[in-house]
Amino acid sequence: MGAKLKHFIESQQLNKPLIDSLFKTARSFDFNSEYDVLKGKIVALLFYEQSSRTSNSFKSAAQRLGAKIIGTENAKEFSSVAKGESLEDTIRVFGGFAHGIVLRHSEEGSAKRAAEVSRRPIINAGDGRGQHPTQALLDIYTIKQEIGRLDDFSIAFVGDLAYGRTVRSLCYLLGKFDGVDITFVSPENLRIGTDIKDYLTRHGVNFKESTKLDEVLPKADIVYVTRIQKERMAIEDYEKARGLYVINQKNLGLVRREARVMHPLPHVEEIDLPVKIEETDERIAYFRQAENGMYVRMALLSHMLR
Ligand code: CP
Repeated sequence: MGAKLKHFIESQQLNKPLIDSLFKTARSFDFNSEYDVLKGKIVALLFYEQSSRTSNSFKSAAQRLGAKIIGTENAKEFSSVAKGESLEDTIRVFGGFAHGIVLRHSEEGSAKRAAEVSRRPIINAGDGRGQHPTQALLDIYTIKQEIGRLDDFSIAFVGDLAYGRTVRSLCYLLGKFDGVDITFVSPENLRIGTDIKDYLTRHGVNFKESTKLDEVLPKADIVYVTRIQKERMAIEDYEKARGLYVINQKNLGLVRREARVMHPLPHVEEIDLPVKIEETDERIAYFRQAENGMYVRMALLSHMLR
């Protein structure tokens, strides 16, 4: 097993032995069973930004492991932050209440700031346009489950690659595997950042940018689609980018039978498929991906808080 994580702030912290160990643990959990791995522990969830999947999969994960949960959904409005309390003070206070803190915040770098003052493990559940490392972990878990390997595969990232933190975190993680081939497909104003490109170059990962989705889809093992992050950009940028790259019934026909379409969700207009196709087409993996998040977060909580 890899070294124990004290805090989990960015996906680069993971290494292959730790990933293997977490995946083994994640696979051991069964939907209908209860566990007492974290009996007697309390997990605090502090969400300063909206969430459905991350907050509730962490809640479900903690409770399934026997832990109790505290915290607040809309921390910006319903915590003492509304009275002007700093993030650092909130984290120091919650360290007296809980054994670990799961934090989502709209500011990039907030999870790192929290970790610097926290006596309890901090898990970054998304920090602005920075990172979403538990999403990256569940994403590679899903890739492994769906296509059976994490080396020697091709992945097309489609959509908002400038503000989508899940793509950033996943690229950092893919840098740890061999033979990964990446194609970035995005509107001109939402291209992948040079920091990610530099990282991939340093780690010997093959990547290119393309504007031709129809040429990219037939070659990809994984098509990873992202929502245009309207909330993080000027309205003109959003209007310029929306609707340019959409997965619909016509171009789904270009995706190979054994390939998979993933999405961190929520999806809006960038996926334009009938519910029936989403439910029956094996290539559509994003709802399985969301469920995987719970098992992966169970494994992570077991690893960090036991
Ligand atoms: N994928 C994801 O982070 O979803 P939520 O914003 O609903 O947590």
